[in-house]
Amino acid sequence: MHQFHYVGPRLFCEQVPLEWLARKYGTPLYVYSQATLAGHFRKLDTAMAGVDHLVCFAVKSNSNLSVLRALARLGSGFDIVSGGELERVIAAGGDPAKCAFAGVGKSEAEIEFALRQGVYTFNAESEPELHRINRIAARLKKRAPVAVRVNPDVEAGTHKKITTGTYENKFGVAFERVEALYARAARLKNLHLRGVQMHIGSQITEVGPFEQAVRKVAPLVARLRDRHGLEFFSIGGGLGIVYQPALASGSPAWWRSPAARGIITPEKYAARLVPLLQPLGLRVLMEPGRFISGNAGVLLTRVEYIKRTGRKTFLIVDAAMNDLIRPAFYDAYHEIVSLNRRGGARVKSDVVGPICESGDYFCQDRPLPRVREGEYLALLSAGAYGSVMGSNYNTRSLAPEVLVNGRRVAVVRERQPIKAIFAHEKIADWLR
Ligand code: LLP
Repeated sequence: MHQFHYVGPRLFCEQVPLEWLARKYGTPLYVYSQATLAGHFRKLDTAMAGVDHLVCFAVKSNSNLSVLRALARLGSGFDIVSGGELERVIAAGGDPAKCAFAGVGKSEAEIEFALRQGVYTFNAESEPELHRINRIAARLKKRAPVAVRVNPDVEAGTHKKITTGTYENKFGVAFERVEALYARAARLKNLHLRGVQMHIGSQITEVGPFEQAVRKVAPLVARLRDRHGLEFFSIGGGLGIVYQPALASGSPAWWRSPAARGIITPEKYAARLVPLLQPLGLRVLMEPGRFISGNAGVLLTRVEYIKRTGRKTFLIVDAAMNDLIRPAFYDAYHEIVSLNRRGGARVKSDVVGPICESGDYFCQDRPLPRVREGEYLALLSAGAYGSVMGSNYNTRSLAPEVLVNGRRVAVVRERQPIKAIFAHEKIADWLR
């Protein structure tokens, strides 16, 4: 459950009215609930208590330093995909020894940095990568802990841009080739074969695909464990969340909990997976991002203009696809609510940003409450893959971020000054 709720007509994050934040800090503005982040982390951590495990939060979903710090304090490890993310984790007080370094294209410099910092594992995605890690480890006189990412060739039933576990995409090593690869890797003297990893995709709302993948891979993991003395099995991330509707509204019937709708919950996930994982006797790693951060954040925006054309009502807001690209990129649904709830008829509206692209919309023809110019809206479930995918397109600043904890509020990222956007650009000498 998340901590965004109406008190009377006003939408709150924990104990803080969101409109107060919008007025104080300006919009567009990301707001995160610490209680929600922590609640989701604990829920998964508790559900998996039946096996020795480590939850490694996927930093790519939300990499704000305060978010990372809050999770590090709860004992979280981190799934990282770049040297930059490792630097962030360290800056936030996270432990490199609880970091799993993933990604298909790790550079020499990134590998060296991560080795020096002592990450828990490099999740390698190809044979050339294993050779590269081995070479660098030899130069540094170290043994690099590695796992190979197995591609189980399982359909995750999710959006094609976020499916990763089939042979159609660039991730991992084909299931049938993994054993021979471990045998060859075992001869590389500067590698320590520590585990096996897999990840089948993101926003998976049923347990079935996870179970199918674990069932398929577990016997292979057992053989590799016996042969190479492995220590862990990472089952990846991908637990889906409720986007639609994300908020309990006036009538209770309108909103049903994930469990009531048959959507994945940590309890269901654990109930089906723990019995398959327990017999392996290995440490289980998980790499959830969205499940922890998704419903812990909203993006606040102000209605600048209402434009009525013959056919449409456009609510032109001050947030845009550079702040939250998911609707434009994946046709993703984000629920849009007013910070001041009111009854009355709904009007079919398109909520659009100021960017010069017709793809710059947050919804189309969606029945929304009637609003006035100057009012604020919240785009819900924006805590994962929101701010982190932000860009400076149209020379727009990256939006600020605020963290709420009970009644307390902290600005955890300031609004980027416009001059900072082009601070590293130069006029060529011959144009001076
Ligand atoms: N582990 C690996 C190896 C991954 O590639 C990912 C996500 C995760 C864990 C975390 O997945 P999660 O638990 O958050 O589903 N930008 C897209 C999602 C891309 C996911 C990429 N990989 C979106 O906005 O939906």
